[in-house]
Amino acid sequence: MLPFIQRPQPTPPRSLPDPGFSHPCVTNESQAPARRGARILTLLQLTDPHLFARGRDQLLGITTSQSFKSVLQTALASVPADALVLTGDLVQDASVAGYRRLRRLLDATRVRYDCIPGNHDSLNAMQQVFGTTETLPVSFRRFGGWTLIFLDSTEPGHEGGRLGATRLALLERILMADTSPAVIFLHHHPVAIRSRWIDGIGVADGAALLACCDRHARVKALAFGHIHQEFAQQRGGYLLLGTPSTCLQFKPHQDRFALDDRAPGFREIQLHPDGVIQSRVRRCETYPERAIPDAMGY
Ligand SMILES: [Fe+2]
Repeated sequence: MLPFIQRPQPTPPRSLPDPGFSHPCVTNESQAPARRGARILTLLQLTDPHLFARGRDQLLGITTSQSFKSVLQTALASVPADALVLTGDLVQDASVAGYRRLRRLLDATRVRYDCIPGNHDSLNAMQQVFGTTETLPVSFRRFGGWTLIFLDSTEPGHEGGRLGATRLALLERILMADTSPAVIFLHHHPVAIRSRWIDGIGVADGAALLACCDRHARVKALAFGHIHQEFAQQRGGYLLLGTPSTCLQFKPHQDRFALDDRAPGFREIQLHPDGVIQSRVRRCETYPERAIPDAMGY
C-alpha cells in the first residue's frame, strides 16, 4: 500500500482585501455551508518553471530563472497570497542546484507553498531539497475550511502520466473522509485539450480520475500544469483548470508541437467559505523574452 499523508498545517493566514474580480474566469455553485468568521483564501498556482542549475541557462530562448522570478514577483505584487502551489516540471536538468534555486526563491516569499513533481522532475533530487512530503504519491492538507489534495501523476520513464489503481483508491479514501470543499492538484491534464500531440501525453487514466471526482460533490476543481497554456472547462460541479507556464507557452489546438508568443503567467484561485471558487489567469506582459518561434520540441 502506498502511503498518503496529511501535510503540515500552514501558519495563520493574513487578512485579505476585497479581490475585485472584474473578469472571473469561471465560477461554480456552492454546496457547502459558510463557516462563521471564515474568509476568502487566495492560492496562486505557478507551474512548469523548468529551472536549471545555472541561472543563465535558457529553454528555447527563455531564461527560465528570470521568467520565474518575474512571474513570482508579479503574482505576489498583484494579490496577497495565502499559499503558493507549484504543479510540476520544477527543474529541467534534474539538478539538485536547480531545486535549491527554487527553494531559495520560494522561502524568500515567506508564503506557505506546496510542490508536486512533473515528468521533467527528478524525484531523488527534489527529495534532497524539499524532503519526502512533496513527492508522496497522494497527500492533502487543510486550508481554512477547504482541503487541498496533491497527486503525483508522474510515471517513471514516461512523458505522459498515470495514476494507477492504488493512487486512485487513496484519493477515493481522502474524498470519503469528510465533506469540506476540495481542490485537487496534479501535473498532467486529465482531459483532452484539443492539441493532438500533448493529448497523447496526458494522464493515461484521466477518465478514471474524473469518474472518481464525479462521485464526490466536495470536489470543486482540478488544477494542473503540463499543457503550458490556459484552459478552463466546467464538468458537473467542478472545474478543470490548466495554467500557463512561468516560461515558454504552447500554442493551443495544434496537431504538432508549436510554441506560442504569449507572455508567461500564473493562476489566481480564490476559495470562498461557502465552497465557491473564482479563478483567473494573469500574465507577466512586460517580460521581454519570447521562445524561439520555429522550435520543434524540447
Ligand atoms: Fe512543462
